Amino acid sequence: MSQYQYPKGNVLYRNLQHALPLIKYGRGAYLYDLKGKKYLDGSGGAAVVNIGHGVREVVEAMSGQAGKVAYLSGLQFTHFPVEKLAEQVAEFLPFPEGKVCFLTSGSEAVEAALKLARQYWVEMGKTGKDRFISRKPSYHGNTLAALGLSARKHYQEAFRPMLLKSSKIHAPYCYRCPWEKSYPTCQMKCAYELEEEIQRLGKDKVAAFITEVIGGSSTGASVPPAEYLQIVRKICNKNDVLLIADEIMTGVGRTGKWLACDHFDLVPDIIVMGKGLTSGYVPLSAVATKKGLTDILFKRGKSFLHHQTFAHHPVACAAAVATLNRLRKNSLVQYCARIGDVLQKKLNSLRSHPRVGDVRGRGLLIGIEFVKDQKKKKPFPRAQKYVERFVASALEKGLILWPNIGHADGTNGDLVLVAPPFIITDREVSLIEEKLAAVLTEIEEA
Ligand SMILES: Cc1ncc(COP(=O)(O)O)c(C=O)c1O
Repeated sequence: MSQYQYPKGNVLYRNLQHALPLIKYGRGAYLYDLKGKKYLDGSGGAAVVNIGHGVREVVEAMSGQAGKVAYLSGLQFTHFPVEKLAEQVAEFLPFPEGKVCFLTSGSEAVEAALKLARQYWVEMGKTGKDRFISRKPSYHGNTLAALGLSARKHYQEAFRPMLLKSSKIHAPYCYRCPWEKSYPTCQMKCAYELEEEIQRLGKDKVAAFITEVIGGSSTGASVPPAEYLQIVRKICNKNDVLLIADEIMTGVGRTGKWLACDHFDLVPDIIVMGKGLTSGYVPLSAVATKKGLTDILFKRGKSFLHHQTFAHHPVACAAAVATLNRLRKNSLVQYCARIGDVLQKKLNSLRSHPRVGDVRGRGLLIGIEFVKDQKKKKPFPRAQKYVERFVASALEKGLILWPNIGHADGTNGDLVLVAPPFIITDREVSLIEEKLAAVLTEIEEA
């Protein structure tokens, strides 16, 4: 454990109750702490580190750009890295001639996407459209609007009066279907709930529906049934509601395709990305939209009314260009799909353990949900802190995992995301499975 423990040091940590290990450096799929202990980065941080740690060409691209010009205001100048990056991102967007704006965090990108949607409707003369529909469970970020869209009771409680109000429909979280139905006899009730909610609010009130494409941490990599997103797309079209795809966790290859939308032939109106865009070398997020949306603003002589000091940051854009080059050059997205299948098959073997309720996901975004009772899918009472103990034991064994709680009923529910860098080998896949099996046994015995 680090000596930099609250309240000793000056860092205000999110978790004030326990100390964090101090990492000295990272190489490839591994991190090394102060004492030289080696950790397999089984979650890429928060599903961020796609190309691995310590990649020289990204470091050199960043330092090269910093040496030329580290900062320019995106309101005063443009520059090669941002022009190049927008071109590269546009290549994998599901619509032609996409327009992309670069910010810093995923939460900011979500806020900017909401503003873009709202501004579009204002320019279209539909000024009543100021409501957003999102899903439960979901996670879209920690700023007040993004948190308002999210369904995360434990993050929201203290701030409830300050949050953006949004309507929430049920996510296609089939393992815990709220109607206790199963696919396909469910007839996609969760998708049609969107139409009911639009009708309830009035279509002249609803600006956009925001959705994770494949679930992130909030539903532990839940993959929707094949037609879910097509139904949702049709409902949005029919009701003049924009569709915002939150690809902050899933985008840039994480699910084995450049965008999770590609698995479903989904063409949203706005896409937000973050995390893997720079593989975490520096913070960068993006809001991408169809040219049609910004054309309206252009024709009316308007600007997009969102900008921040660090938008289009030259060093961050240079890092992203180098990251995307690396992904392309080494065919890492294709590799992610292949090795992701191998990993998921291996992890499926854990289903025989009584505490493993479900294993799901796509590419290298895999969720393992833990239960007290496998048959009844009963979660552990929150007070038992199952996943906290699980993640701590895995860390002890040198495996980093990403935990989530609350998905079962808002309070209870324990799962981990396994989301390693796209460079893990077959040997490391086995290592992840072995360590997970050892943790399951250890906790059971305890
Ligand atoms: C799906 C999704 N949306 C939005 C966010 C918020 O991104 P950030 O933490 O960079 O603000 C996250 C972060 O985990 C996420 O997973």
